Amino acid sequence: MKKVQIGLQEVHVGEVDELCRALADEVEALLENRLKEGKPAVLGLATGSTPLPLYAELIRRHREEGLSFANVISFNLDEYEGLGRDHERSYWCEMWKNLFDHLDVRPENVSVPPSISDDPDRAAAEYEAAIQAAGGIDWQLLGIGGEGHIGFNEKGSEPDSRTRRVTLARKTIVDAAPGFGGEKNVPNHAITMGVATILEAKRVVLMARGASKKEIVARALSGEVGSDVPASFLQNHENVGWFLDDDAAGS
Ligand code: GLP
Repeated sequence: MKKVQIGLQEVHVGEVDELCRALADEVEALLENRLKEGKPAVLGLATGSTPLPLYAELIRRHREEGLSFANVISFNLDEYEGLGRDHERSYWCEMWKNLFDHLDVRPENVSVPPSISDDPDRAAAEYEAAIQAAGGIDWQLLGIGGEGHIGFNEKGSEPDSRTRRVTLARKTIVDAAPGFGGEKNVPNHAITMGVATILEAKRVVLMARGASKKEIVARALSGEVGSDVPASFLQNHENVGWFLDDDAAGS
């Protein structure tokens, strides 16, 4: 695995399994430190296909090496509106299927923004408040959307944005359509942590895999910082790591 520095950002490039081992090492070290301090570790987690091999590695360490997640509080980045927890495409369902069901995490310590709520604005504000009440996020994992979104902070998202209800971009809906059996089944709205919520995390890691992410990763890493490419706001964070496979890095 290669490591280069671009501005404030450390960029790791390598094979997916190396990237996942390095990310799992970060999680493991955080859990150990927090346990010693007698405090919970607060993780910010992401859905999408990108983190799946990392989640597999965390599950392996739990099963084979006894890494315990009993001391973890987790907040997911975002959730589709209107699906409900039982829907297989809801992020609630995906997170349990792909990660939490296989760990010793306490169910009451797991939070995903509500998919169904009679007052999404209030629900979003409560989610933001719960993150603050937990002492903020220690380690935030991100993927990147085709147009540079983080969570569901689409193009136009401001750096001071907080957890809120958002309208999904056309490209996001098109990208999600295969998993939903067509565009018409993809929700138009979601609740997402805001850019400011994400940037307040003590450590932010963004993982990207595949040639389809190459162009947007380059723009986010080295292009102009602004809401045209929300992931570019990471350039202003003092503790951010990019974890890219060769295709996403364009190397
Ligand atoms: C969705 C999620 C993002 C994720 C993105 C990329 O839009 N809300 O959090 O980063 O998809 O997904 P994938 O990892 O499948 O490319």
